[in-house]
Amino acid sequence: MDIIKIKINVVGYDELVNLMLNCTKCKLHKSRRRVVPGEGPLNAKIMIIGEAPGEREDEEGRPFVGAAGQLLTKLLNNVGIRREEVYITNVVKCRPPNNRDPEPDEIEACRPYLITQILMIRPQIIICLGRHSAREILTMAGYPEKSVSNISSIRGKVFNVKLGDLNVKVLPTYHPAAALYNPRLRGVIEEDLRKVKTLLGKGEGG
Ligand code: URA
Repeated sequence: MDIIKIKINVVGYDELVNLMLNCTKCKLHKSRRRVVPGEGPLNAKIMIIGEAPGEREDEEGRPFVGAAGQLLTKLLNNVGIRREEVYITNVVKCRPPNNRDPEPDEIEACRPYLITQILMIRPQIIICLGRHSAREILTMAGYPEKSVSNISSIRGKVFNVKLGDLNVKVLPTYHPAAALYNPRLRGVIEEDLRKVKTLLGKGEGG
């Protein structure tokens, strides 16, 4: 996939957010309450990409503010990462009805926004939460879909990829929503997130 061709030409972040807020490119615009573009510092070294807004996010227009988001914030804190230092977004920016999985046409419609966000923020590390996010980013980077569709077999692995003109490390892990129902996964997500500081070159106590 030539992601540079998919990137949107915008003069800055505000223009990009405006495009997202007014987007009607897929059917999700009909049922959404608020668009959830993403939030965080534009110079963040860490970018987190989830799947899609849920009910609370749809109400507030902010990513990961519901139960899964609160767990995510806690797990980040446990490994010494402050949520405020991370740029957080989703594969699709509008809530799918009843929190169903985003459909291929919806993911495709939202892809230019995600690509533009990544190439604007230029993170050193992208943490993919869940299989939709991991599949989207790693197939963009050229991995065959089949090889990256099973989150249990790729979680915790670090993929050094090139997205357009950006070299970035991609770390897939489980989605925190899965860990709400299966508490054993909390420790696994934490174990994966612990790698981030080392990857950023800070190491222990840095
Ligand atoms: N789940 C996601 O994938 N993203 C959110 O923003 C909230 C819940």
